[in-house]
Amino acid sequence: MSKILIKAMVLPMTGPDVFYSRGEICIEEDRILSVGEEGSAPGNFVPDRILNLPNDVVMPGLINTHTHAAMTLLRSYADDLPLMPWLHDKVWPFEDKMTEQDIYWGTALALCEMIHSGTTTMLDMYASMDQVAEAVLQAGTRAVLSRGLIGNAPNGERALQECIDLVQQYHGAGGGRLKVMFGPHAPYTCSGEYLRRVKAEADRLGVGIHIHVAETLDEIAMLKEQYGKTPVEWLDELGLFGGHVVAAHCVHLTPNDMEILARRHVCVAHNPESNMKLNSGTAPIIELRHRGIVVGLGTDGASSNNNLDLFGEMRSAAFQQKLQVDSTALPAYQVLEMATVNGAQTLGFEDVGMLAPGFKADLITVDLDQPHFYPRFSIPAHLAYVAHAGDVRTMMVDGRILMEERKILTLDVHRVCQEAETRAKRIAAELN
Ligand code: NI
Repeated sequence: MSKILIKAMVLPMTGPDVFYSRGEICIEEDRILSVGEEGSAPGNFVPDRILNLPNDVVMPGLINTHTHAAMTLLRSYADDLPLMPWLHDKVWPFEDKMTEQDIYWGTALALCEMIHSGTTTMLDMYASMDQVAEAVLQAGTRAVLSRGLIGNAPNGERALQECIDLVQQYHGAGGGRLKVMFGPHAPYTCSGEYLRRVKAEADRLGVGIHIHVAETLDEIAMLKEQYGKTPVEWLDELGLFGGHVVAAHCVHLTPNDMEILARRHVCVAHNPESNMKLNSGTAPIIELRHRGIVVGLGTDGASSNNNLDLFGEMRSAAFQQKLQVDSTALPAYQVLEMATVNGAQTLGFEDVGMLAPGFKADLITVDLDQPHFYPRFSIPAHLAYVAHAGDVRTMMVDGRILMEERKILTLDVHRVCQEAETRAKRIAAELN
C-alpha cells in the first residue's frame, strides 16, 4: 500500500488553533504529503486506499519517553509496598529469573498494549536489548533502545560492551525506526569513572544518553553524602551533559539544577503516575517548561504504574500539576504537546510528533463517537482528560497500518498474552 487518504477530523499538533473538523491527510509511502480541510489533497493524488472515518480524530502517535517495556511481566505482581522492600524483595529477585526469551515476550506484551493505547514510539531501558529490538521490528513501531547499565554491578563491564554492540547492530535499523542510546541507570548505581567512560563511548559512536536523575529524596541524600552535590551538579561536573541526554524523573531539583539542565539542553522524561505510586514526589514541570527545557511524558515500567496508557498519563500529568501549582497549570493542549511534539524532541526525532507535510506518517485515530465524547466542546480537552487506551481505533507507523478496527496486524495478541501469563507465573513459582 503506497498511497493512503484518511478522511476524518484532524488535530495535527502544529499549533493550538489548528484543527480540521472535516479534514483529510494524504500519505505516500512512509511520509505525509498533505494535511488540511476536505479538498486540500493535491489534484494528482490517486489513493490506493481511503480510510473514511468521519467520527474519528486523527492525531500524531503518542510518544513514551521513559519505560522498561519487559516489566509488563511484573504487572500487579508486587504493589503497595515501600520503595526499598519493593525493589529488594520483589522486583530484583523476579528480574534475576527472567531469561532472554522472557524479555522478548514481556516486551511483545508491552508493544501490544502500546499499539492498543496509541503509543507509536518508546524510549526503553532494559537488558537483552537485542530481544527488545527484534520485538519492535516485528511490531512495526518506532523505538529508542538503551541497554541499562549498572556500573557498580558485577556485569557492569559486559553490559557496556553489549551497549556498544547494540549501537553497531541496531542504530538506524528498520529503515530508521530504531535508534540506540546508552542507558547508565542512575548517578547512584554508576561510579563517576564509569559514567565518564559511558559518555566517551556515546560521543565516539555519536549517540545519546538516557539516565534516571533526581528521582527520590533518598537519591539526593546519597549523592550529597558521597559527593557533596546534587545529582544534576555531579553529572554536570563529570561532563555527562552537553550532547543528547534524556534525564528521567527529575523530581527533586534546585533552581541551580534547573539552570544547568536548561544551559546543557538536557531533555526531561516526566513520569507522573510512577512518581505518585512510589511516593517519589511531584516534578516541577511548570518551571522546567518555563525555562525552555523540553519535557516529554513517560509511563516508567508497568510495575510502578501499572499500565502503559499515555492517555491516562496525560490526565495524571495535568491533574498533578493543578493540585500542586494551580488549576490553570498545564492546560490540555500543552499536555498533548508533551505526549507528541515534545516527546519527539526529547527522543531526537525531527520528523515525527506532528502531522505535517514531509513528516513520517506515524499517527492514530481515536473513535469520538462514544457517549464519553459528547458534547464536543473541546477536542484537545477530550483527548487530554477524557480519552483512554480503548478509544484508539487505528495506528499507522512509517505509513504502514499496524492496527485497524482495534485489531493488531503485526503481532499475535492472543499468543503474546498466553506466553506472558505462563512465563510470569513460572518465575513467580520459582521464587516461592
Ligand atoms: Ni525508570
